[in-house]
Amino acid sequence: MTMSENESKTNSTVPDEPIISGHSYDGIEEYDNPMPGWWVWLFIASIVWSPIYILGVHQFGFINSYEDDLSEQQTELVEIRAAFEAANPTATVTEESIAAYVGVQEHIDSGAVLYSTNCAMCHANNAGGLIGPNLTDEYWIHGSKNTDMFTVITEGVLEKGMTPWGAILSAEQRSQLIAFIRSVQGSNPEGAKAPEGDMAVAATEATSEGL
Ligand code: HEC
Repeated sequence: MTMSENESKTNSTVPDEPIISGHSYDGIEEYDNPMPGWWVWLFIASIVWSPIYILGVHQFGFINSYEDDLSEQQTELVEIRAAFEAANPTATVTEESIAAYVGVQEHIDSGAVLYSTNCAMCHANNAGGLIGPNLTDEYWIHGSKNTDMFTVITEGVLEKGMTPWGAILSAEQRSQLIAFIRSVQGSNPEGAKAPEGDMAVAATEATSEGL
């Protein structure tokens, strides 16, 4: 029994079609199976389409190139961002922007709620200090300005055990907390911790006036 006889017997999937004569390579022969019509038409269509595409992109410009699309979308993105920024201005936190919260009852009240949920366990309910320092005295480890407090609250002091709140509380909420802390300044609560840090330079600070 020759090799090819053996193969044609065992391989039942081989179609019953004539072998093209002349196509035999090392005994391997092929059948004449035409491509399906839809495939041939896709193939022809892609050949017809390619010069249209090349001319459209490079010669006549009626088809957008990748760069065209990208810059169009980028322009749109800039517009969307500008519109968003106009509708929701980014809170730029300054000494003055925080000062606008200080002394405003509504913000002090919101700050008090935030304080009792997030801060009281370390700074005590009356803000006299526990693990964290007394927030009612005039002494500050990290500075007495609104922006100093804002920075400590935002970034925390991890090695001392002060949590960073920047990712948890909004800039507005952090400003309200400062309004609350300012409101309890000088309250000298019972059992308050001894002062830590340096005395506030109140005279040079507009925001400390009237506290
Ligand atoms: C896990 C305990 C802990 C929590 C919770 C905590 N703090 Fe503190 N906080 C500390 C410690 C400890 C320090 C002192 C850091 C140092 O010594 O540098 C501190 C420092 C501060 C300071 C700076 C005080 C200074 O003298 O300069 C401010 C302001 C402050 N905390 C506000 C807050 C506010 C507002 C919250 C709630 C949103 C809060 N802390 C929550 C532990 C905590």
